[in-house]
Order: sequence, then C-alpha cells, then structure tokens
Amino acid sequence: MREASSRNPASIHIEHFGTSCVGVPIIEAIHLNFFYGLFHALKEVNLKIEERHVTALIGPSGCGKSTLVRLMNRMSDLAEGNRATGVLRILGRDIFDPRFDVTDLRRDVGMVFQQPNPFPFSVYDNLVFGHRIAGRTNPSQLGQIVEESLTAVDLWDDLKDSLHLPALSLSADFQQRLCIARAMSLEPQILLMDEPCSSLDPVATQKVEELILRLKKKYTIVIVTHSMQQAARISDSTGYMLLGELIEFGDTKQIFRNPTDQRTEDYISGKFG
Ligand SMILES: Nc1ncnc2c1ncn2[C@@H]1O[C@H](COP(=O)(O)OP(=O)(O)O)[C@@H](O)[C@H]1O
Ligand SMILES: [Mg+2]
Repeated sequence: MREASSRNPASIHIEHFGTSCVGVPIIEAIHLNFFYGLFHALKEVNLKIEERHVTALIGPSGCGKSTLVRLMNRMSDLAEGNRATGVLRILGRDIFDPRFDVTDLRRDVGMVFQQPNPFPFSVYDNLVFGHRIAGRTNPSQLGQIVEESLTAVDLWDDLKDSLHLPALSLSADFQQRLCIARAMSLEPQILLMDEPCSSLDPVATQKVEELILRLKKKYTIVIVTHSMQQAARISDSTGYMLLGELIEFGDTKQIFRNPTDQRTEDYISGKFG
C-alpha cells in the first residue's frame, strides 16, 4: 500500500537546488547522467518540473530526449549494462533508491509512445486491463471507468457503441487517444509523452494538443516533440537538448523569444537540427 502522502506532492518536503521552479517540483533531476554501456547519453542534467505544467523537450534526433523521459518511468536503466548516476526525484522520491518500487512509480507515471500501442484486445478490454490486474471486477465500476476515460479524450460519443471492436481496427488518431485514455484511467499524476503526434495527421494532432491542454488542469505532462511550433503552442516550459546535455530549460516564451544560450538560438532559428 502506498502512503496517502505519496499522492500529495505538496505534503512532501523537498530540498531546493536553484530557484527556477516557482512551486514544488514534481520531477527533479540533479546532476543526472545516463550511460548505455559505455555511451554517455545524458550529461549532468539538472531540471525541475512543476506540477500541472506542460514541459516540452525539444532538440535534434539522438540527443537524449527519449532517454530522459524513459528514465522518468525507469524504462531506460533497467537493461543490463545501462547505468544512471545522480538523482532523479519524482513526487519527492529518489527513484534510483534500491528500495524504490518501480511498479509503484508506474502507477504514478503514465507513458504514451510515438506509435500508438493498444493491446490486441477490444477497446473495452484495453481500458479495463490495468484495473482488472488491480483486482477491480465489478462490471458497473469498470463500465464507469471506461465511460469516464473515453469522455476525457473526447472519444465516448464515437466509441460508446463500438466498445467491443478490436482496438487495432481503429484509426491511428483514435488508437493514440485510446492509449492516452488507458494511461489516464489509472489516474497517474504525471503523463510522459514521447512524440505522441508523430504518426498523426494535422487534424488528429490538433485533437491531441487540445486534449493535452485540457489534461494539464489535472496532470503534469512531459512531452518530447520534434515540432517547435507544437512546443510553443502547448507547453509552459521548454528544455532544449543537444548531444545529451540539457542546454537550456525555462519558460517556453522566453526560450523561443529570448534564449540565453547561443546553441538554443541557433536551433530555434533553424540554423541547424
Ligand atoms: N537502447 C540503446 N542502446 C544504446 N544506445 C542507445 C539506446 N537508445 C538510444 N541510444 C543512443 O542514445 C542517444 C540518445 O538517444 P535518444 O534518447 O533516443 O534520443 P532522442 O530521443 O533525442 O532522438 C543516441 O545516440 C542513441 O543512439
Ligand atoms: Mg526520441
């Protein structure tokens, strides 16, 4: 059982390193390094992410954006030969602490990937899967979860009469929104999204962006995006990553209008990348 306080980041005492974050950070990296074997993929990353903010990670391919978000869900470091150093604190807990339970983390931190990855089951079974594992079997409770999670992603009217269709038969847009609904139905506090719109057309992308803006009222969202326009449209804070370093991290408007690092300016002005 988790302690009640773990659901409430405001009740957790957190030391402060620097002052870029106004509220209590819900995610904090301190001198975070990550190695795939000998390859140094993240270098001395320091950042603080505030609750109920949308944070965008931008930068050229191969610069460590996916590695960083996957680390927030302990998906990068568990493979043989990979190694993290430094601190990554999520909801006030050091997630590299050997006593830390990864299953617990994954309950608090949901993840949505580049390619929609519904299970090869029906829409309904995708949405109740995690709940059944958690021991919830009451049909009316499960029905309510399905309705609420599809409503949250604006799919209820479209799918309420098709709940038993195979999820894989849906369009890419519906599949991706279903995956977001599946992640959200488990009520995580943080949602990680790794280029969630890269396989979607502009109309579907707009739907997902609108959804992100609605979800941020309740959740903290970290999104990797290739699109600087998307970062500018939806995020409160932006981090620019280059060759494993977090070059600059701050208020999105400031990063795009008045970056402090020349390397950020070169990237956002299209000089390279
Ligand atoms: N599983 C892996 N094993 C070894 N190297 C990897 C692995 N995943 C990513 N890398 C390397 O780490 C670097 C960062 O990759 P990634 O985090 O995927 O970058 P981005 O998401 O910014 O494109 C790249 O050089 C990539 O080749
Ligand atoms: Mg990536």
